[in-house]
Amino acid sequence: MKKISIAPSLLAADFSDLKNEVKNIELAGATHLHLDIMDGDFVPNISFGPMVIKAIRPYTNMIFDVHVMVSNPERYIEDIAKAGADSITIHIEATKHIDRAVNLIKSFGCKAAVAINPGTAVSSLDAIIDSLDMVLVMSVNPGFGGQKFIPKALDKIKEIREKYKDIDIEIDGGINNETAILAKSAGANILVAGSYVFSGNYKEKIESLK
Ligand code: DX5
Ligand code: ZN
Repeated sequence: MKKISIAPSLLAADFSDLKNEVKNIELAGATHLHLDIMDGDFVPNISFGPMVIKAIRPYTNMIFDVHVMVSNPERYIEDIAKAGADSITIHIEATKHIDRAVNLIKSFGCKAAVAINPGTAVSSLDAIIDSLDMVLVMSVNPGFGGQKFIPKALDKIKEIREKYKDIDIEIDGGINNETAILAKSAGANILVAGSYVFSGNYKEKIESLK
């Protein structure tokens, strides 16, 4: 079984104190920081962009796992990579040219991942999965933190893990101490958690998900 990593989502942090939030979540044991870029078009919310990623990059060594919820994400891949992303995840639903976009991510030396929404089948990844470092299975409809977990995501993760033993599988949305157990047993190895981790003691919350 692959090692389990926890990726707290910055979306649930205190935005008036981002520098300290980033330092504290790393001290609490997080190895990855999940960064949600939203454009108000692909998803019905606007969050932050590459400038914020660049601003916090000097304050942590965590792996920057950037989740791009943007239509035609190829427009911003260079800026996101140069802001300090380690891995860039784009949605298969957001581009007409997923192969080109994945190649663009790799051309900047970043790990490449593709996300699927709750309404998108695993088979949509068939033609691209061999080129990917990671697959992100959404367990909520993207756009907001604090939503309810959609269990269908677990079947999708099982389907991917059966075929691909070594690929990283990330799950995002509604992860807490109970859904984390289901996600891990389905085969996910990177767990994104926003509202659960950023409410209460960060270290205890992260430990409870591992
Ligand atoms: C939702 C984002 C998530 C979000 C998860 O569109 O992609 O990363 O921050 O938040 P929780 O863990 O609260 O569901
Ligand atoms: Zn996310």
